[in-house]
Formats: sequence, structure tokens, C-alpha cells
Amino acid sequence: MFTTIILGAGKSTRMKANKSKLLFDIAGKPIVKHIIDAAKMANSKQVVCVVNNKSPSLKKILLEDDVKIAVQQKLDGTAGAAKSGLDSISKQDQNILILCGDTPFISSSSIRKIVSKLKSYDVCVGTVELDKPKGYGRIVRENNKMVQIIEEKDTSLDQRQIKEVNTGVIAIKSSLLKKHLGKIKNNNNKKEYYLTSIIKILIDSGYRIATHKFINDLEVSGVNSKVDLVNLEHRYLLAKAEKLLESGTLVRDPARTDIRGNLKVKDNVEIDINCVFEDDVSVGSNTRIGHNCYFNRCKIGNNVHIKPNTIIFGSTIADNCIVGPYARIRPGSQLKKGAQVGNFVEVKNSTIGSGTKVNHLSYIGDATLGININVGAGCITCNYDGEKKHKTIIESNSFIGSGTRLVAPVKVGKGSYIAAGSTVTKDTPGGGSLTIARSKQVSIPKWKNKKIKGTR
Ligand code: UD1
Ligand code: MG
Repeated sequence: MFTTIILGAGKSTRMKANKSKLLFDIAGKPIVKHIIDAAKMANSKQVVCVVNNKSPSLKKILLEDDVKIAVQQKLDGTAGAAKSGLDSISKQDQNILILCGDTPFISSSSIRKIVSKLKSYDVCVGTVELDKPKGYGRIVRENNKMVQIIEEKDTSLDQRQIKEVNTGVIAIKSSLLKKHLGKIKNNNNKKEYYLTSIIKILIDSGYRIATHKFINDLEVSGVNSKVDLVNLEHRYLLAKAEKLLESGTLVRDPARTDIRGNLKVKDNVEIDINCVFEDDVSVGSNTRIGHNCYFNRCKIGNNVHIKPNTIIFGSTIADNCIVGPYARIRPGSQLKKGAQVGNFVEVKNSTIGSGTKVNHLSYIGDATLGININVGAGCITCNYDGEKKHKTIIESNSFIGSGTRLVAPVKVGKGSYIAAGSTVTKDTPGGGSLTIARSKQVSIPKWKNKKIKGTR
């Protein structure tokens, strides 16, 4: 059992932005949300986040996630932040895990390993070897044993060459933290109270200190500037797409594939360039995805062809469907087996029945379409009367002529034919009937001559 304290009250000065760096999205969600999720997945009993007084939007995200908020009144360093976090925890006899709020990709398995070291040690410090350690606190060892952490600004030239750095991940017993935090001094170049100074204090007092070396530095790379944010996100997304390629999905270019959420892919899938996957997305076998597509919270079946420039959000696409190019499928939609939705078609909160085709320039909103219907080019369900949304029902085996407007609420009966250009305001009887709802065509002879006479 342990409690996680996320340090997130810093001013984010290097970020050069008007909000906390913890709020910046990386790989599909805010930095802090990645950390909260990892801590919860590692079974943290409680998660506390230390914030400053000026972050209403950060507080909002934390509350939504059931994270306890601790406020650091004076922003005088990470030791002060840790103290604010600790003070907000009621039960003190427990293990504490401290995480920096700017290292989004820490994994729950690493968290578990570090915390479990407290079974035989008093403290465990996460470290990592970096080729470019610039900016990080260095782990100073003597006879292979860590003796202190020294922040970059306070290092000697020799110490600056050390490649093993502090990750900011520390597991510690809360009683120790409470007892020794107050002893930390700010006699350093930044005149801040560094949490990292506690290590030397504990070593001098004879406590047992362990280190845990991370193998993958991606897990503990921090976001201190926008350059860090962009570089880190790029590395993370590239690694994810390469993993998918290695597992057998034909990802045409991993550098141009952004898997920002949880993507589950079955066998024999092809993904062309510039596709973005957010939140939970699953793709069935033998499915092909063209370039420039966006997916968010959706389920794509087997043998589906998603053509280029298609957007699918919060929807289900069953087996054998063809969608796009340039289709937009909005939340609450279901395309049943073998349905086709083509170019410049928007579908919102609607069901498109099996074998039904809506192939060109149409809007289908709040509608239920049965099976084997053909919707001609440029058809619109007029679902909104300015106040309320209304439903359109088109029963199976109907034929909707091009340019039809269906004014909801309205029902097109089974086997109806609607003449092109109709504005349908009443239910149609179906059964092979033809409904024509447009003004009769008239041709006025010699119109041009009459017009000229009249205007002169
Ligand atoms: C910190 C560590 C450094 C480590 C690096 C790993 C310290 C003193 N230094 O440096 O050893 O290598 O992380 O990424 O701990 N914060 C507060 N209150 C404050 C100051 C900071 O809550 O008064 C928070 C920040 O919001 C941030 C975290 O603490 O999330 C770390 O602060 P940051 O300024 O990023 O420290 P680094 O210089 O990266
Ligand atoms: Mg940092």
C-alpha cells in the first residue's frame, strides 16, 4: 500500500506559457493525466497532487480524477512541494511515492518495482543513464554507493560529466520524510529548497538507501520546455508505431502514425501515412486504412476499407463496410455489416443498416436506416427545428432520390421510392409507392423575348 504525491506546483517558467506545464497534452492527454493513470494502475491507494494557487484548470482535471489537491503556498522548491503533499495526507505511517509532475511516461510496472524496494530499504531513488544529462540532478557515487544528488547548477565540472541522473522518482517511508524534510537548507545557486538534498541527510543519518536504474529513459524524461514536449512526444509515438509494425501490422510510416491512445489491431491490417488514433480504438482483421484518417473511441470491424481523409469519432463500423474518402462519422453512429458511406457524407448519431449505401454529399443525423437502402447524392435529414432534434426513420429497401430533404420527425415506409429533389414532410406509405414532393415543372415558352419586352 502506498500514496503517490505528484509535485506540480512549479511556475513552469521554462515552458514560456500561461498555464502549468502539467496541463499540456502529450500523446492524447494532459501530462499529469498520464502520471495519475500510471500511479492508479500500480495500485496507489491515494494520489495527491501539489499545485500552486494559480491553476484553476489543473485543479479541475485533478478533481475529475479523484486526486487530492494540496496547495504549496510559497514556491520555494521541490522540498516545500513534498511537504505540502505530505501535510495533506492524514495517515502518516505509510509508504510514499514522489513523482515529478512533468515526466508523463513513467510505467506502472516501474512504480511497483520502486515501491517494493521499501520492503528492505528506507528509501529508493529512481535513476537513469543519459547520453545528454544536461539539466538533470546528478547521482554522485563513492565506491559505487550513492552519496548525494547534486543539481546541475551546483555541479563541479567533473560532476557535470556524470551520466547517471536523478529521475525525480523517490519512494520513501512517510515518517522519514516528515522527520527530515525540515532539515533541508537552500544554500545552493538557485536558493531553493531541493527535495534531492534529503538524500545526503538520510545517508549521513545511516538510513538504507537503494537505487533503481530505469532501462528506458523515455519513462523518466521530463518536459521542461516546449522543445522537450515536442521531442518527447515524437519519440514516444514513434516507439509505439514501430512496435505495431514489428508485431505485424503494415504501418506504412511509423514516423507519420500517431497512436495517442490504446489501439488494438487484429491480423493483416494496413495503415497508410498520417493517421491519428486517440483514446480506445480497435481494428479488425484484413482492414485497410487510407492516409490522413482520424479515429477516436471507435470500433472498426473485419474486412473494412476506410478510404483517405476520413474521420470516425465515437462510432462502430461493422465488418465489410466501406467508408470515405472524406467521410465524417460522428458520435453515436453505427454502420452495420456491408454498409457504405462515401465522400463528403456526414453521419451523426445514426444507424446505417446492412448493405445500405449513402455515397455522396449527404447529411444523416439522428436517423435510423434499415437494410439495402440507396440514398442518392446530396440528401439531407433536416433534424433540427431550431429548438429540438428530431428523428428520421427510413425503412429497408427504400430508394431516396438525389437531393431529397427529409424533414424530421418523419418515417419513410418500407420499400418507398422518393423522387429526386423532394422535400418530404409526411410519412410515406412504402410498399413500392413513389412519393414526389416538389413543385411541378413548367416551361414558359418564349420567356427570353417576353422578359426583354417587359424590362424595356
Ligand atoms: C527535478 C530534480 C532533478 C531531476 C529532475 C528530473 C529537484 C530539485 N530536482 O529537476 O534532480 O533530475 O527533476 O526530471 O527536485 N515543483 C513544485 N514546487 C516547486 C518547484 C517545483 O511543485 O516549488 C514541481 C514542478 O511543477 C515539477 C517538479 O516539481 O513538476 C520538478 O520541478 P522542475 O522545475 O521540473 O525540476 P527539474 O529542474 O526538472
Ligand atoms: Mg523537470
